[in-house]
Amino acid sequence: MAKKTIEDINVFGKRCLVRVDFNVPVKGGVITDETRIQGALPTIKYLMNQGAKVILCSHLGRPFNICNEVIDRKKIKPADADKTDDQLREETIKKCSLKIVADRLNELLDGKVTWADDVIGEKAEAAVNACKNGECVLLENLRFYKEETKNDKGFCEKLARFADVYVNDAFGTAHRAHASTAGVVQYGFVKDAVCGYLIQKELEVIGGALENPARPFVAMLGGAKVSDKIGVINNLLEKVDTLIVGGGMAYTFFAAQGKTVGDSLCEVDKIDLAKELIAKAKDKGVNFLLPVDTVVSNAFDNNADSKVVEGNIPEGWMGMDIGPKTRDLFTNALKDAKTVIWNGPMGVFEMPNFAVGTKTVAAALADIDAITIIGGGDSAAAVTQLGYAAKMTHISTGGGASLELMEGLVLPGCDCLNDK
Ligand code: 3PG
Repeated sequence: MAKKTIEDINVFGKRCLVRVDFNVPVKGGVITDETRIQGALPTIKYLMNQGAKVILCSHLGRPFNICNEVIDRKKIKPADADKTDDQLREETIKKCSLKIVADRLNELLDGKVTWADDVIGEKAEAAVNACKNGECVLLENLRFYKEETKNDKGFCEKLARFADVYVNDAFGTAHRAHASTAGVVQYGFVKDAVCGYLIQKELEVIGGALENPARPFVAMLGGAKVSDKIGVINNLLEKVDTLIVGGGMAYTFFAAQGKTVGDSLCEVDKIDLAKELIAKAKDKGVNFLLPVDTVVSNAFDNNADSKVVEGNIPEGWMGMDIGPKTRDLFTNALKDAKTVIWNGPMGVFEMPNFAVGTKTVAAALADIDAITIIGGGDSAAAVTQLGYAAKMTHISTGGGASLELMEGLVLPGCDCLNDK
């Protein structure tokens, strides 16, 4: 069911609590990639231009273990055991505060952003109350309260006091049933609940491809583990014409085919499942492509000795990337596709000597006349690093969330929104 968007309601003069995903990488006090901030701007600017009071909220990192009133000492790392609660709190706030994002956002929005310095409580209330039409407030990291991830009803009620309207534009956390991603609406504290432009696009593009794809429809999956993608493979086998499997997860399928895998990644307890998936593909008439040759090395090191093998991977060697014949095989399979979904690298992409397979398929995708959808996480990073981002139809802003969508699961952060 299509969800209402910010353009379907009147927001003038209303306080819009907007859940964004400002979970940006920060190193040494510097935001190293502001894609997520830029990605949220269209929704924020639209609401400000419509005269809404925009109350932004987000998480940053996973600080919830120690930022509670009473710190759970059992969850403290041994290296931090001697630190006092106050020291631990101070360090975490330094590491995970959204103040750094507020400062950047304020630059991007012409000085119209106020920093609330808390999520609920007096300081936050004062900032929200002072917010005028067309202005913006950023609340502190939601996960400084353990109640956020626990979807605590009382916390939802307090947060919802800042909301005449709830807007979810945090696709990256739409698979989480937390207070700010779903609870405020699920408990009935806010009635008007719509999505922003980011979520709208994710649902339209990924949802649209899964429901009604232009064919041939090809899915290309990689990454380390089959266990992370069982649900996705199962669901995609119902929909695609071709399923390409590369990366570390391919070796479990090799084992299922009776090949030796040497020292490669292999989930022994998933070999039977891999056999079932191969059988299901056959049953559904899906063209299931696995690597036919492999770049192997004698250590997990960019400078280790390496060679290309076909078929069995010998003892003492591990699969690191797809080989040249496989690169051709996969590129050919992509050539005539009209819809492609890609999630997960084809090899150990972070090591330059084993990044060729991933680079080759990324280049092939950039070249074809098709709807190309890149799942979040590593494949999104690869496409961006290689300079192909502008050539793709859609690069998802959510790793886990896009996988769950591809798996056919209901995302709580989308499900709670008003239907059209
Ligand atoms: C992400 O970075 O994938 C999202 O912000 C979700 O973060 P989480 O996995 O900590 O919920």
